[in-house]
Amino acid sequence: MFMKSFKTFTVSLVTVMMLCLSFTALANNNDNKQTGVAPATTAEKEMTRLAGDEFYQKVQDGQKGYTTSQSMEHDVLVSHPSEAWYILKEKWMSPLGAIAVLGSLAMVSLAYIIVGPLKLSKPRTGRTIKRWSRVDRALHWSMAFTFLSLAFSGMTLVWGKHFLKPIISTDAWGMIIYGAKQYHNYIGPIFFILLVVVLIKWWRKSIFKKIDLDWCLKLGGMVGKHKGSHPSAEFSNAGEKIIFWMLIFMGIVAAISGFILDFPIFGQGRRDMDVSNLAHMISALILICGFIFHIYIGLFGMEGALEGMVKGEVDETWAKEHHDLWYEEMKAQGKVEDPKV
Ligand code: HEM
Repeated sequence: MFMKSFKTFTVSLVTVMMLCLSFTALANNNDNKQTGVAPATTAEKEMTRLAGDEFYQKVQDGQKGYTTSQSMEHDVLVSHPSEAWYILKEKWMSPLGAIAVLGSLAMVSLAYIIVGPLKLSKPRTGRTIKRWSRVDRALHWSMAFTFLSLAFSGMTLVWGKHFLKPIISTDAWGMIIYGAKQYHNYIGPIFFILLVVVLIKWWRKSIFKKIDLDWCLKLGGMVGKHKGSHPSAEFSNAGEKIIFWMLIFMGIVAAISGFILDFPIFGQGRRDMDVSNLAHMISALILICGFIFHIYIGLFGMEGALEGMVKGEVDETWAKEHHDLWYEEMKAQGKVEDPKV
């Protein structure tokens, strides 16, 4: 019943999001076609009224003015080299990013509908093995919460003007976008601290070995002709190791670029900010798409996976089927526990 509702929910969600984006894009296109020129923003109109046409034209042309501030480029209000950044961000990154995120959501929905969840092939034995300590679980869920809230506030900052702004009042929009920006600025550094702790704590079990290649070639035994074949794996399988290193490397890029944007007080100019902004968007999008698959597997794609991250223990059958080498190691050390004894 729950799974059926989830199926209907995800298919409807993806459809509604795609329709919203297409309608917004169409609406914007029509606006520009009707007038023939890009409409002046309220800020532009206000600026022309206060400073006069001639002055505003100079500002628009990127000419230098006068200010008592000594900081780099403070005497230029409109920076023309930044147009390349604006075009890359608004005309390329923003729509391509939306396609990537919606595409990932569509892929996991299709995987659920067509391939279905990977069930245990043998009954549970009731004997359990400790997989994640209390500290590990606290670390994982803090990281998951921080990452997901940063992802949602970040997506609101990039796409909110297309899907949220047109349907709410200006005051509500102002409050939401201000809140999202502040939240993103303050929580970003916490994500970085958690990322460092995750790296220190879990890097050892994420080192690639020869056996991981076989796991990859058989696509983890999750799809195709190898479905249900359960290729050998240690504590972490190749898929988890890939996700782990993607998190570390892309997380570091997102964190460093985020710091450059968060603290513009170390002499960084507009070009540094442009590059950082693009690097921040690309790394965050790669992470968001990657973790859509991780979350799908954790929540719906694999029977028994979530138990380990919630209770800390997994069933013997799950361990044997998904992490056979780790299971053998635990058994040899006498760590398979029978709760009835
Ligand atoms: C609702 C959201 C999420 C769910 C349900 C979930 C579920 C899980 C589960 C079940 C595992 C354990 C897999 C195993 O025992 O082999 C796991 C591991 C892990 N998760 Fe998540 N997760 C979520 C979000 C996230 C997020 C947002 C991040 C990072 C930003 C993350 C990072 C990790 C990492 C690094 C591991 C360890 C993988 C390894 O190296 O073995 N998770 N997750």
